[in-house]
Amino acid sequence: MNILHVSSSPRGRAAESHRLSRKIVDALLERHPSANVSTRMIGDGSLSHVDENYAISQHATEDVSQEGTAATSAELIRELEAADIVVIGTPMHNFTAPSTLKAWIDHVVRVRWTFDVGRHGKTPLLRDRPVFVAVSSGGRFSEDGTRQPDFLTPYLKAVFAIIGLRDLTFLSVQGTAFGQEALTAARDDADRTLQNCLQRLVR
Ligand SMILES: Cc1cc2nc3c(=O)[nH]c(=O)nc-3n(C[C@H](O)[C@H](O)[C@H](O)COP(=O)(O)O)c2cc1C
Repeated sequence: MNILHVSSSPRGRAAESHRLSRKIVDALLERHPSANVSTRMIGDGSLSHVDENYAISQHATEDVSQEGTAATSAELIRELEAADIVVIGTPMHNFTAPSTLKAWIDHVVRVRWTFDVGRHGKTPLLRDRPVFVAVSSGGRFSEDGTRQPDFLTPYLKAVFAIIGLRDLTFLSVQGTAFGQEALTAARDDADRTLQNCLQRLVR
């Protein structure tokens, strides 16, 4: 069993989204103690954006180059393919995914590698597997009457579906900007949701 943990906050291991995603990984490890965990900390911007050759190859009928970020992309795709379960930690930035996670997505959503394009549109090439997404946000976004839109959840659902990942579970710690009491309550909420999710997984 391989678990891929991608953590995308600029706050690194101190991040709320990292904390929640690490809890998910730990809970999975309790159930699968011999699982191998690969962790990608990408929130510091160390993952480059895709380069010119990569962009050209997305439109060409074959890959024009395996150099530069095409090689980075190949490595990240191999890592994703090898994963039985994926856990992603992400803050909400400006109503959507942070640019660090978007860079990772640009590397792994790759024509001829993780999806194909034909007359009828795009066909996914990856087998489905559980993907847990741990979100942290300063405000709230998931109930009626919230003051901000949520482009993060629908975006991740749509973009992962292109490559075949549809088994997505979202957990969140929302309202981190509302003080310690609200943060504690939000963490407790996330813990309860995690326990419910794990019970469903075990069944
Ligand atoms: C650049 C930036 C943009 C942000 N945009 C939003 C936003 O649109 N909505 C929101 O609720 N919080 C927003 N926040 C606040 C973070 O989502 C919040 O602090 C979150 O708890 C950070 O999670 P982390 O500790 O995992 O990085 C933003 C923070 C930053 C740095």
